[in-house]
Amino acid sequence: MGRFSLFASLLLAADGALGAKWIGEVKKVDGTEYQCKCYSDNACWPTNKDWETLNKTVNGQLQLAIPPGAVCHKSLGNSSVSVYDAAKCKDTQANWLNEQWLTDHPIANLWPFSTNNTCLPTDDPSSPCTRGFYGNYVILAKTKDQIKAGVNFARERNLRLIIRNTGHDFMGRSTGFGSLIINTHSFKDVNFVQKYNGPGNWTGSAATVGAGVQGRELYRQAFAQSPKVVIVGGECPTVGWAGGYIQGGGHGPLSGIYGMGADSVLSFDAITAEGKYVTANAKENSDLYWALKGGGPSTFAVVTSITVKTFPEIPTAGTILNINSTHTNDSATFGKAFHIFHNLSNHYSNHGMFVYFEQGPGLGRLHVAPFVGPNMTETQLQGVLKPLYDQLNAAKIPYDAYTRSFPTFFEFYIDMFEDEQPNQNSIVGGRLFSQSDIAQHGDKIADALLFASMPEPTQLGFNVGHIVNPGYGVPKVDNAIHPTWRNASSFVISNVIMSGTESWAVRKDRESFNTNVVGKALRDVSPSGASYVNEGDLNEPNWQQAYWGSNYARLLKIRSKYDPNGVFYTQTTPGTENWSVIDYGTKLCKKASK
Ligand SMILES: Cc1cc2nc3c(=O)[nH]c(=O)nc-3n(C[C@H](O)[C@H](O)[C@H](O)COP(=O)(O)OP(=O)(O)OC[C@H]3O[C@@H](n4cnc5c(N)ncnc54)[C@H](O)[C@@H]3O)c2cc1C
Ligand SMILES: *[C@@H]1O[C@H](CO)[C@@H](O)[C@H](O)[C@H]1NC(C)=O
Ligand SMILES: *[C@@H]1O[C@H](CO)[C@@H](O)[C@H](O)[C@H]1NC(C)=O
Ligand SMILES: *[C@@H]1O[C@H](CO)[C@@H](O)[C@H](O)[C@H]1NC(C)=O
Ligand SMILES: *[C@@H]1O[C@H](CO)[C@@H](O)[C@H](O)[C@H]1NC(C)=O
Ligand SMILES: *[C@@H]1O[C@H](CO)[C@@H](O)[C@H](O)[C@H]1NC(C)=O
Ligand SMILES: *[C@@H]1O[C@H](CO)[C@@H](O)[C@H](O)[C@H]1NC(C)=O
Ligand SMILES: *[C@@H]1O[C@H](CO)[C@@H](O)[C@H](O)[C@H]1NC(C)=O
Ligand SMILES: *[C@@H]1O[C@H](CO)[C@@H](O)[C@H](O)[C@H]1NC(C)=O
Ligand SMILES: *[C@@H]1O[C@H](CO)[C@@H](O)[C@H](O)[C@H]1NC(C)=O
Ligand SMILES: *[C@@H]1O[C@H](CO)[C@@H](O)[C@H](O)[C@H]1NC(C)=O
Repeated sequence: MGRFSLFASLLLAADGALGAKWIGEVKKVDGTEYQCKCYSDNACWPTNKDWETLNKTVNGQLQLAIPPGAVCHKSLGNSSVSVYDAAKCKDTQANWLNEQWLTDHPIANLWPFSTNNTCLPTDDPSSPCTRGFYGNYVILAKTKDQIKAGVNFARERNLRLIIRNTGHDFMGRSTGFGSLIINTHSFKDVNFVQKYNGPGNWTGSAATVGAGVQGRELYRQAFAQSPKVVIVGGECPTVGWAGGYIQGGGHGPLSGIYGMGADSVLSFDAITAEGKYVTANAKENSDLYWALKGGGPSTFAVVTSITVKTFPEIPTAGTILNINSTHTNDSATFGKAFHIFHNLSNHYSNHGMFVYFEQGPGLGRLHVAPFVGPNMTETQLQGVLKPLYDQLNAAKIPYDAYTRSFPTFFEFYIDMFEDEQPNQNSIVGGRLFSQSDIAQHGDKIADALLFASMPEPTQLGFNVGHIVNPGYGVPKVDNAIHPTWRNASSFVISNVIMSGTESWAVRKDRESFNTNVVGKALRDVSPSGASYVNEGDLNEPNWQQAYWGSNYARLLKIRSKYDPNGVFYTQTTPGTENWSVIDYGTKLCKKASK
């Protein structure tokens, strides 16, 4: 740790924003001076008595944060906390790939790379277990007042604060070393109305959705209404809806006809960094309303519920297509097939479709599951896909495809979407290809994606693609989402596969590879493209422009109005320019202003 030097632990606050008692360490990294949040090895860390007081304020909902694998270990770090429980360890091992089980856990992160993998559910109880990049305490909030108490405590005591909803985030933004975590998973209320009469011009049906509600349970409740309705949500059953998803923008199977998830939002209820309850909509706090719709998660406020437009159910058709080793083992044939498939992105998306695909050598080559045809019959969908089949047939490429139609979107969704497998280790990146990029550089884009899935013979990757144009059905909306989403054609997440046990140096090397080799290849072929803050690279160059384009300047102003002192933090969100997690991924610190 030679690069870092600690030269004072109690200094006066430079900006006067914090009480002098709660000043963290001052650290110097490569000549830059940082002032840190308070951590457990600092004098400003709350005493046991302080934690007890907080626990009383939150009605006993404060717990020590225990990593999910800890029940398989004799001890957690150096602490005397007894964590081993043979039965719970078996249960954890059995549920390690169960998304719902993991999202129900108080702090688990589903993509363990960001937790540092220091406490896995091993068969050897004497092996070490430490918190790694998990937090220290968690409030399992049951009421808004408990969330507010947590925000106030973190702000007053200068602690790293983490809002954790499902722990689903690919980018690890719901975990943070040494933090106080607020878990919002219990906020499950949903209330449907047939006629919205709040601010704005919408008089159709709507729903108010609690912060902890997850994708499939929301779709299920919408389907149970009379008449049945749909809501724009993600493809994954367990992703939170009113947490990170909406605040990042949110794409999904119905985005081709109804736009991004955030485009449908009518109103937010939230708690600010100052611990104030606010409503944000067209009439009240309209700047916050605008920013919460796509401006970045954990940036402007803690959202407690969202009121959103609902739409009538529609018939939906879907197609599943495979091209894999049952069909060909020839890379050139497969490459040709992928070019044909992906080059038609503008065609699919300009029929209001959403196309979910997985591609890579380890993923059976190309698995499209599914093509979504909203408001289409089987015949209509097959008509739209005819150019694809014609081109594959003309090139003599073998494939399997089948199409089915359903009376409703929900029945289609349950039948044709598959669950993902959590607890895989990879470094994530991604790129949004615009309509004009696909039209002008479609072949180069396909080549870059093939490269991203196998950038080196020994370095495998995989891509998860979402072909959709949210601007097709909803061409103009005033919110924080990158304007390029209105001309989108294909958004692809790239993954550099890791084992999760690499040294820090190897991690840094692979992160750089992800950004400067894989990411660069994708950026180079998409001059009018963008990136997606919820499924992107934490080291994205020029991230302000890449994630928000012309909306960034306004977001920065709104951030400095609602959270000037950095109560909230996740990497690459508006206003975090002077903040860094230093000391090998541990301490969150701010560049000292001179
Ligand atoms: C398997 C998988 C599938 C996905 N599918 C889609 C998809 O179809 N479409 C899409 O757009 N995205 C998708 N995503 C990305 C998803 O939108 C983000 O991971 C999102 O951040 C998840 O939000 P969460 O609240 O469920 O997760 P969490 O990991 O709990 O939180 C993510 C971020 O949101 C913040 N946050 C959570 N709740 C609140 C709150 N109430 N107030 C303020 N900040 C909050 C957290 O602090 C954190 O920064 C997918 C991700 C995965 C892993
Ligand atoms: C908070 O109080 C509850 C109820 O008394 C208790 O079960 C829990 O262990 C306490 N949390 C901490 C961190 O001590
Ligand atoms: C555990 O204790 C040892 C010796 O006191 C110390 O060096 C080490 O940093 C501690 N580790 C943690 C994770 O607290
Ligand atoms: C993170 O993992 C690395 C590599 O195993 C290890 O050297 C480091 O101590 C870990 N840090 C924490 C805080 O767990
Ligand atoms: C409502 O509609 C009017 C007239 O079309 C428009 O000027 C106004 O901006 C709209 N308000 C909102 C909140 O969309
Ligand atoms: C591809 O290779 C696998 C493994 O050798 C084999 O089982 C499969 O039949 C091959 N596929 C074709 C189309 O030849
Ligand atoms: C992809 O599209 C471009 C532009 O429309 C076209 O020139 C090219 O031939 C297409 N390639 C394939 C493989 O379809
Ligand atoms: C490969 O394609 C076949 C035929 O469609 C399908 O049954 C199989 O599940 C596919 N394999 C993978 C790994 O996707
Ligand atoms: C669905 O299609 C029908 C018939 O073509 C049309 O009247 C209706 O407006 C469409 N609905 C949507 C939401 O696009
Ligand atoms: C996006 O498309 C709209 C029309 O839908 C067009 O007016 C606009 O110029 C396009 N923007 C870009 C960046 O291509
Ligand atoms: C970062 O710090 C510099 C120097 O103090 C300041 O000029 C700049 O406004 C800060 N940026 C943000 C986004 O806070």
